[in-house]
Amino acid sequence: MNEPIQEIKQLKEPMKKTLVLAILTTEDPDGDFRGNRSNFADLIRTGQTMGFLVYVLTVSNLLFRRKMLRGYVYHAESKKWQRKLMPFPDIIYNRIPHREDEMQPAVRQKINACRKHPRVMLFNPSFFNKWDLFEWLKKSRNTKPFIPTTRKLMNVSSLNRLMRKHPYLYLKPVSGKAGKGIMTVRLHGGKSLPYRLKIQENRSSSTYNCSSLEKLWARIQKESGGEAYIAQQGIQLASVNERRFDLRALVQKNRRGYWELTGLGARLAGESSITTHVPRGGRIEDPEKLLTYSFGAEQAHKLLHKAKTTVLLIAKQIERASGQRLGEMSMDLGVDHNGNLWFFEANSKPMKFDEPHIRQKSLERIFQYGSYLARKKTRRAGGV
Ligand SMILES: Nc1ncnc2c1ncn2[C@@H]1O[C@H](COP(=O)(O)OP(=O)(O)O)[C@@H](O)[C@H]1O
Ligand SMILES: [Mg+2]
Repeated sequence: MNEPIQEIKQLKEPMKKTLVLAILTTEDPDGDFRGNRSNFADLIRTGQTMGFLVYVLTVSNLLFRRKMLRGYVYHAESKKWQRKLMPFPDIIYNRIPHREDEMQPAVRQKINACRKHPRVMLFNPSFFNKWDLFEWLKKSRNTKPFIPTTRKLMNVSSLNRLMRKHPYLYLKPVSGKAGKGIMTVRLHGGKSLPYRLKIQENRSSSTYNCSSLEKLWARIQKESGGEAYIAQQGIQLASVNERRFDLRALVQKNRRGYWELTGLGARLAGESSITTHVPRGGRIEDPEKLLTYSFGAEQAHKLLHKAKTTVLLIAKQIERASGQRLGEMSMDLGVDHNGNLWFFEANSKPMKFDEPHIRQKSLERIFQYGSYLARKKTRRAGGV
């Protein structure tokens, strides 16, 4: 007698569908794909252990009318990538590695189509540029206090005006990364060569001193090679043994779709470097240790707490002002001598964090957020 009822109950249980996540990238002229393969392999491995089907998908293989797409999967045993037909993804994680590729009209068109498409949830639709970030963060009372004064580097008079207010400036390409193209300018009033330009080289920096603003401008133009730059108030970073340091935060969305701090690291600058990047002689450090060294234990704790709450405010504001669906970003933050916190940049294609505890968590969060997006999609489609 009871049996038929049980059967109906079973039918009503929603079928648990395997979620499919595609890592989006561009094709390589050689016929396969671009991007950080070890990162992609880590993502595939993590996703599989969390019950996902994960593969690498190139933009040209993303075809909206197909049920199955050509993808790449990684075989851990043979350590080889294989082409394979895979189901159309529920979630697309954009990891296109180069700005130039992402700006190609064909690529933009596909990404925009994803936004409108009911079958896919794409997150992190594009790279940020440094100028937009400052515009977005200026708009909110909550985030404005953390941004250094920033202007577009347009002409000699705008540089001069900013330098009178802030005699120490950072000049950065709006689309730069990893310290490339960064320069600093210092105005030493009263000296015979008052303008000091430092240019980031591979691991150290070179200096150019000059007597006039015009000479300085000519040199900056030569170095910047016509690229768009911002000029930004230079922050006197806190230091340990005369090496400056800054903080790197990884902020990601969790399984409930809320921003959370995945981890906070610190980078101690190389001896004569104007940035703290590891490939330029910087070193990974524990933020608590460096902050305690510079400010004492009590102040260090307060600063860490402040940094943790501030990065969440910043992430929310970037998301709101950009109008993009974002699932993760990394952030570079500075702490000045007085213990004030400053925002330098955010990156929507974060590099892999070398701290193992941050790394593992960061991989898992992608899929936790992925499952949130998939639930949202199902609700949107009016399904179960
Ligand atoms: N306004 C600034 N004042 C002091 N240091 C800065 C400033 N802007 C950048 N830096 C230093 O240079 C590094 C690189 O700058 P960032 O804006 O992150 O550019 P990139 O995209 O090249 O990483 C920062 O991590 C920080 O150490
Ligand atoms: Mg940076």
